[in-house]
Amino acid sequence: MTAPLIDPFARAISYLRVSVTDRCDFRCTYCMSEHMTFLPKAELLTLEELDRLCSAFIRLGVEKLRVTGGEPLVRRGIMTFFRAMSRHLQSGALKELTLTTNGSQLAKYAKELADCGVRRVNVSLDTLDPAKFAEVTRWGRLPQVMEGIRAAKAAGLKVKINGVALKGFNEDELFRLAEWCAAEGQDLTFIEVMPMGDMGNDYRIDQYWPLKDLRERLAERFTLIDLTDRTGGPARYVRLAETGQRIGFITPLTHNFCESCNRVRLTCTGELYMCLGQEDRADLRKPLRTSTDDAQLEVAIREAITRKPKGHDFDYSRQTVAGQMPRHMSHTGG
Ligand code: GTP
Ligand code: 5AD
Ligand code: SF4
Repeated sequence: MTAPLIDPFARAISYLRVSVTDRCDFRCTYCMSEHMTFLPKAELLTLEELDRLCSAFIRLGVEKLRVTGGEPLVRRGIMTFFRAMSRHLQSGALKELTLTTNGSQLAKYAKELADCGVRRVNVSLDTLDPAKFAEVTRWGRLPQVMEGIRAAKAAGLKVKINGVALKGFNEDELFRLAEWCAAEGQDLTFIEVMPMGDMGNDYRIDQYWPLKDLRERLAERFTLIDLTDRTGGPARYVRLAETGQRIGFITPLTHNFCESCNRVRLTCTGELYMCLGQEDRADLRKPLRTSTDDAQLEVAIREAITRKPKGHDFDYSRQTVAGQMPRHMSHTGG
């Protein structure tokens, strides 16, 4: 049972993203509808169950654990989970424990996260304009997030800003975002908007700003140096020669990165999604609850990995959306 997790396409699975809650204190337009029905709390795995599941993955070779949501920091007692996971950092089995957050609760938790061995956080932020921020997040307020980012840095955490590239929305802020991140010493990553959730098809195409175009726009003002740096995620990085700023591109649409996929996603109810862009999933809650011994769970995890698909089918190239997933991003944590 100690063989590493290898999928049918010879990709080693070393990265687990775990969505600890489907709830969020924001309602970003490309992620959620305004009126969401969330899972009843009774459906959720307990923090102890999440611990058991993640620990099983770590035994099977997962070295990078990213906590996501919804907004992971709104899950009650979440620090207990981070503290529990830090034991795997101490043992050396886990190389990185990190999270993707909207930043709203960072002021409260940054120090404790750092104490648990978290070294960097990815904060989702699409605009530096307070009115536009309120528009895209519906419920979010920019100053609260800025305060969270400051607290993260004060606690010694490295911050990466994740911005979804949105046509007609943050196009005009490209240089402002890049300059702000350069001044703050933060990495910046842009993400192509994916057709997930229950919005009309046309809406996503209207919003879609291909990163190939964004890159060309950047190159009008800066010299871009391609980097070979990898953080274990799908981003490919460049450095702006003039400012030293590192910028990442996550391009599920213009450049498919599935051939090097190393990750799977666990939801807060114990479903394992082998791909963000496909519906197939494995129920890990049942084997988890059937026995206190992890043998059945490990068999179920291995079986799931044999079903990992080659990749997603997202495609906007025919002026229509293909490969759309009705599932909300908050379900699988991005
Ligand atoms: P690091 O490289 O460790 O900084 O993280 P990451 O880029 O893997 O994680 P992050 O949470 O910052 O990912 C940002 C976004 O990229 C996610 O929310 C998704 O929208 C997208 N993304 C990440 N992994 C995948 C993937 O496997 N497939 C697709 N299609 N999109 C992904
Ligand atoms: N397409 C691309 N990225 C998305 N995110 C949420 N929904 C989408 C989407 N439809 C991103 C958020 C955040 C991360 C958790 O997922 O901006 O950075
Ligand atoms: Fe991996 Fe699926 Fe994402 Fe492709 S879309 S990188 S296969 S999770």
